[in-house]
Amino acid sequence: MREGGELSLSFALCFYLTAFRLAFATCAMPDCSKESELEKALPCIFKKSAEHYRALVAAAAPLAKDEDGKKLFPHGYKAVTGELDMRSILWWTSGHFPGSLWYLYEATGDVEFRDLAIFWTERLAPNSKVDTNHDVGFIMYCSYGNARRILKTDRYDAILIETADTLCSRYNEGLGLIRSWGKRDETKNFFVIPDNLMNLELLEEASKMSGKPSFAKVARSHAVVTMKHHFRADGGCYHVLDYDQVTKRVKAVQRGQGASVETAWSRGQSWAIYGYTMMYRESKNPLFLQMAQKCADFAIDNPNMPEDGVPFWDYGAPGEERDSSAGAIMASGLLELSTFVVGEKAAKYRAFAVKALTSLASTDYFAAQGENGDFLLKHGVGAKPAGSEVDTPLDYGDYYFLEGLLRFKRYRDKQREKNEK
Ligand code: GLY
Repeated sequence: MREGGELSLSFALCFYLTAFRLAFATCAMPDCSKESELEKALPCIFKKSAEHYRALVAAAAPLAKDEDGKKLFPHGYKAVTGELDMRSILWWTSGHFPGSLWYLYEATGDVEFRDLAIFWTERLAPNSKVDTNHDVGFIMYCSYGNARRILKTDRYDAILIETADTLCSRYNEGLGLIRSWGKRDETKNFFVIPDNLMNLELLEEASKMSGKPSFAKVARSHAVVTMKHHFRADGGCYHVLDYDQVTKRVKAVQRGQGASVETAWSRGQSWAIYGYTMMYRESKNPLFLQMAQKCADFAIDNPNMPEDGVPFWDYGAPGEERDSSAGAIMASGLLELSTFVVGEKAAKYRAFAVKALTSLASTDYFAAQGENGDFLLKHGVGAKPAGSEVDTPLDYGDYYFLEGLLRFKRYRDKQREKNEK
């Protein structure tokens, strides 16, 4: 969610060349014209996104059901019936819709989005005590974490720290890992998925808020052990690993949401790129930076990566459905990764992110108003092997798309400031 790092020399060069592009026939890498085109389009993309979400909020509000503790959140859209897919507060994506409202507030400055974001965020409060899965990190950090950052308030610290405590109750000291799925005291299995890396940002931030180093210790241990077991030599990611809690070895590998055990599920790969970049930002452990690059290179240089930069739902399933959510997560992660490396590497990551965001903002993926349940991105894939959510909008695709665009905007703004000094 946060991001840091210094602007690279190549970015500065790119901006300079863009500003004076009439004097130059072509730009050296990165492709400055692509960056300036995307930058010029941003106000329009944010305006359209705001229009979509105003309509989405209006449609979701009567379905949100606050009575009987049944709090529902808009997650997707069932095109066949034309209904919004409303999911329980416990569903792993319930924080993404409030998170998108926060990003729209940042993008537009419209206080209507701030007030909506506060309302939808605070409905998530009961999740701080939910210890039945690892997803509280996603749920509470995309919502309350953004609220805290954007409002610059400490009024959400207590609930975020409580959530971090709950998440750490799923940590197994012997393995050095947080259990992803299943009851926290289950002995028969201990499932871990790369998606879990995304929950670690909550722990890093909770350490800073509370002054308790134990949260960050858990996060860093989880990232280190995951790095040892979850990746093939080429940087491709497994989805589900089941650990033996006695021998501490991996006892089974499952394809999970991927096409097969030996292929890389695209969204898992994107979680890994984003997750290790974020963990490098927080810890400055150079191994995390290396891992993030290895995962990124696997994806970008993959022979099955389509020309428009939006991956098929699995790197082993070329020609099948794209997953726009995997493209958005990867683009947002790569923009941050590009700030931690220099030269050609930085240019490569930023250029790819710009290409993917540009594709996602085109009519190939960005829905027209009134279609797609008014979610922004079409063509997401949730869990194809389960026949669930194939070629459909997904709330988290929108969230990381908006985040990626905002990250891109911030880099361009910073660059401009730097050049004006
Ligand atoms: N578990 C998160 C995902 O489906 O990507």
